[in-house]
Formats: sequence, C-alpha cells, structure tokens
Amino acid sequence: MELIEAIMTRSSAARLIEPGPGPEQLALMLEAAGRAPDHGRLKPWRLRVLDRAGRTGFLDALVEARRRRAPQATEEQLRAERDKNLRAPLLVVVGCVVQRDHPKVPEVEQILAAGAATQNLILSAHALGYATMWKTGPAAYDPAVKASVGLQADDHIVAIVHIGTREAREG
Ligand SMILES: Cc1cc2nc3c(=O)[nH]c(=O)nc-3n(C[C@H](O)[C@H](O)[C@H](O)COP(=O)(O)O)c2cc1C
Repeated sequence: MELIEAIMTRSSAARLIEPGPGPEQLALMLEAAGRAPDHGRLKPWRLRVLDRAGRTGFLDALVEARRRRAPQATEEQLRAERDKNLRAPLLVVVGCVVQRDHPKVPEVEQILAAGAATQNLILSAHALGYATMWKTGPAAYDPAVKASVGLQADDHIVAIVHIGTREAREG
C-alpha cells in the first residue's frame, strides 16, 4: 500500500478481534515506529508490547486505578474495564521518558516525538492489513498504571494502541 493511500484510508476500529500481527510484522511495525522524527535523537519513546498472556499486570493496574477514581464502581463495571482492554489481540503501550534538563529539546518536543512514533506504528499496522485504535483515558495518567509497564510517575503514557482485525459488523 502506498503511503498516501495508507494515510487516507486509515480509520480507528472500536472493536478488534483476532488475528493480530505475527512476530515478523510486529517487528517491522516497531522498527517503523522508531523511525519517527526525533529532535536530538533522544529516542524518548518506550514501546511495551502486551499480548494477552502478558497483559495481566497492566489489566490489574487499570482495574485498581478505576477503583481509586470511582470507589463506588460495581464489580460489573470493573470487569468491563478489564474486558475492554483484553479484547484486542495486541496492545502496544507507548511511553515517553522525558529528559527534563535537556539543554536543547524541551519536554513538549520529546512527547511529540513519541506521538510521531505512535503514528508510524499505527500507519504501519494499517499498511500490513491490521486495524488499530489509539487510546489513553484517565488511567494513562495513573502512576500505578505507568509502573505496571515499567514507567516512572513523571514519565508519560502517550498511547495505548489496540491492534488487531476490525470486527466485520462494525462496517
Ligand atoms: C493522544 C490521543 C488519545 C486518544 N485517546 C482516546 C481514547 O481514550 N478514547 C477514544 O475513544 N479515542 C481516543 N483517541 C481518538 C481515537 O484514537 C481516534 O483517532 C478518533 O476517534 C478519530 O477516529 P479516526 O482515527 O478513525 O479518525 C485518542 C487520540 C489521540 C491522538
């Protein structure tokens, strides 16, 4: 698929099912993400790949974060929080580790580079025939959720990218 065609035909998919990308396709997507414009070549992005088996700690952290935000949440609501993040075959949590004392590259530019890496990842997935949805939500700002994917409290989660195949009935 040509680049312009990929850009013009990409759209988010709210419901993602199997199959997800295989190991070689995933490796290509991650390599493409790492080709993002990057002031100072700081490579501030961190790409944490979570297949379903590797997602338990992240899901637990999402549920606990929801419980802290909404102590009145029912068990059903907490289960829904888990389920909606379990559906896609693959999640890639894109973190940004900022060098705050950098003399030339302000924080916002480091975050933008991580955003560009995310867009490369998403477009590459689309070009390889997979659908995605870039999400964040309040949990992305929760220190314990960040810790569950190896980030510090003052790092950023810029994206939780859900990747898989668009469910047919979505159209
Ligand atoms: C930084 C960022 C965070 C986002 N977070 C969410 C989110 O949490 N939930 C959501 O429904 N859409 C979120 N979106 C928007 C979707 O990924 C999507 O781009 C939007 O719904 C427009 O649809 P499209 O991608 O098909 O044009 C986010 C987009 C960005 C750039």
